[in-house]
Amino acid sequence: MLKTLTAFLALLVSSAVACAQPALVSFDSATKVFRLDGGGSSYVFGVNERGELQQLYWGGRLGATDSIPAAKAMREWASFDSSYTNTPQEYAGWGAGLFMEPALKVTFADGNRDLVLHYQSHAATASGFDVVLKDISRPIFVTLHYAMDPGSGILARWATIENRGTDAVTVEQAAAASWALPAGKYMLNYLTGRWAGEWTLNREEVAGGARVIESRRGSTGHEANPWFALQRFAQQPSEADEEHGEVWFGALAWSGSWRISIAKDQLDAVRVTGGFNPFDFGYVLHPGKTLETPIFYGGYSTHGMGGASRLLHRFELAHILPNPRATTGADGTPLPMAPKPRPVIYNSWEATEFNVNEAGQMALAEKAAALGVDRFVMDDGWFGQRKDDHAGLGDWYVNPEKFPHGLKPLIDKVHALGMDFGLWVEPEMVNPDSDLYRKHPDWVLNFKGRPESEQRNQLVLNLARPDVRAYILGFLDKLVTENDIAFLKWDYNRNWSEPGWDQMPPAEQKAVYVEYTRNLYWILAELRRRHPKLEIESCSGGGGRVDLGILKYTDEVWPSDNTDPFDRLTQQYGFTYAYTPQIMMAWVTDSPHWLNNRTTSLQYRMLSSMEGSLGIGANIARWSPDEMTMAKGLIAAYKQVQATIVQGDLYRLLSPTDGSEFSATETVKADKSQAVLFTFIHSTQEGRGFPLLKLKGLDAKTNYALSSIAGKARTGTPEVASGAWWMNHGLEMDAGFRGDFQAAAFRLDRK
Ligand code: GLA
Repeated sequence: MLKTLTAFLALLVSSAVACAQPALVSFDSATKVFRLDGGGSSYVFGVNERGELQQLYWGGRLGATDSIPAAKAMREWASFDSSYTNTPQEYAGWGAGLFMEPALKVTFADGNRDLVLHYQSHAATASGFDVVLKDISRPIFVTLHYAMDPGSGILARWATIENRGTDAVTVEQAAAASWALPAGKYMLNYLTGRWAGEWTLNREEVAGGARVIESRRGSTGHEANPWFALQRFAQQPSEADEEHGEVWFGALAWSGSWRISIAKDQLDAVRVTGGFNPFDFGYVLHPGKTLETPIFYGGYSTHGMGGASRLLHRFELAHILPNPRATTGADGTPLPMAPKPRPVIYNSWEATEFNVNEAGQMALAEKAAALGVDRFVMDDGWFGQRKDDHAGLGDWYVNPEKFPHGLKPLIDKVHALGMDFGLWVEPEMVNPDSDLYRKHPDWVLNFKGRPESEQRNQLVLNLARPDVRAYILGFLDKLVTENDIAFLKWDYNRNWSEPGWDQMPPAEQKAVYVEYTRNLYWILAELRRRHPKLEIESCSGGGGRVDLGILKYTDEVWPSDNTDPFDRLTQQYGFTYAYTPQIMMAWVTDSPHWLNNRTTSLQYRMLSSMEGSLGIGANIARWSPDEMTMAKGLIAAYKQVQATIVQGDLYRLLSPTDGSEFSATETVKADKSQAVLFTFIHSTQEGRGFPLLKLKGLDAKTNYALSSIAGKARTGTPEVASGAWWMNHGLEMDAGFRGDFQAAAFRLDRK
């Protein structure tokens, strides 16, 4: 049947992934239905008879000619449950009869707090739409932005709120987007943690009421991460699994206080709303001004949690991280866009802590270079009066006792050894015992006349202030201009407290929640603009600032200060649900480990770290020749397959969680020419060896040669077999692969 389209847009957006389906966006002016298709998913919304923007469909990709009926508001369920609250609005103002979580809540200058947003107009953009809503009587305009990624089907949504009136309006709550899911039973997955214990995957059935994950800490936080995934199941939750079933997922790109609320309403409909955390929020929008929310990305997979994370990884590599570039496989097949794999680094923190000096760092650099390390990073302790964590933060001059000739001799030595040089900084912080604080005590976040709560003996500089922003950019620019620095480890070692900003009028002080983070992004962007080769790691006492906002300006993250190789397996397992292994730095450190007093072999530690972007963080000055030889060999082996490990399609074959005795991961290169497999034993019991491993994601008809990176397969395992063999028959490990904290790794190469 021919559709009556008075306006039809079909934008073929060039695809990031070879042979991915193009994104298609269309608007049917007869039905007022908007449709966005990308990858394997479709997203549809329309204008209902009241003028509200109503979500109509989000899920697997619909047929190209399918016509979608016009939006029709849901009926009132009872006098208690209005149509306004039952209807899944794309972006509901708090007003009329809304009881669900609003996307936007405001107070007008006259005290009026009723906001009802209706469709006004729209425009097509390169990959989606800008849809303008307006309050039914007052000049508050909201532009909803939609941008569909053709490769992954991940949809970016955010909003710009504009005051076209003559009086200021206070925005009390502003989400990036609300997402509605089809009625059903869902399992919610989300990540929580604490310092040294990040990335715990939690799973719970979505029950009535709201489940809130959030940070009130001024930054992303260790406590929860702004990511969710909802698995649908028919009867029993166990039906939802790693490689099967429908999953809707989302990630919020914001490194300030954030909130995602997952609510099942009185009619069992599930809606997810996320954006700025409304707690203590208040943004005064003066006439003519706008407030732009963070971006909330949402996606859909029919291949379970594994499929969802593979889509996210691809998307992060191609569209979030800096410097993606096109590459091809061995036979010229185009591979998805991605940044270069990370250099293998050495970092001296666990070896020296604050006791850095020229001779000691040079000695470590020599040993690091002998291992095949690409980048030498000096951590905390090199600046100001920084003998421990009581002093020096804020004073970014080179400590003259530790480095009498500045950093140049060390940097020159590192270069002469064939590595580049990286440096630790913590730009947003100040110790009260510092020249900076003595000179500018008013630069810290604080309520005037009230105590300043120290954490790790430090206070947070108020980046919302223009003078603080200028100071931070200024010292970083000088540091990077005067020294040949390839990389900054940008740390952030406490959360906010007492977030006062008394240079602003009282009503406007809460804007600190927006302006601080915007200025942080601005500094990072400006620094990178001035120094295009500079790379940056986002660290916050480990993984306290990992989100799709900071990742637009940083190349990697430090997932945790916990470098115990066994704990890391669980953390890495959780981490990869939301983030690509490309950014997941993992250091090999010393044994017994300082945190758990656990003793593990160097092979186990190396293989645990090789699941991500590899670093060495041990005191290599004490390593024996045998340890040096083993590490050197494994670093060389790692580099050969690194691109597959950190940018391939990840399959979590065996989970290390919940007391599991075994774990395994597999990554497959996008052109299916190579796969890398990691296997770990926690502790075998009752003589039971490693379970049979059925590989995934290979090309059934291609032959693959198996070779060992470390460890052995069962005697008699074919050297070459088809993808079908490895996936159906599976790989058996050597009978001797038993005991405690054992690890093995293999590669499969197309023959
Ligand atoms: C934080 C980081 C560590 C190290 C120390 C230095 O804890 O996460 O890796 O840099 O700070 O003080």
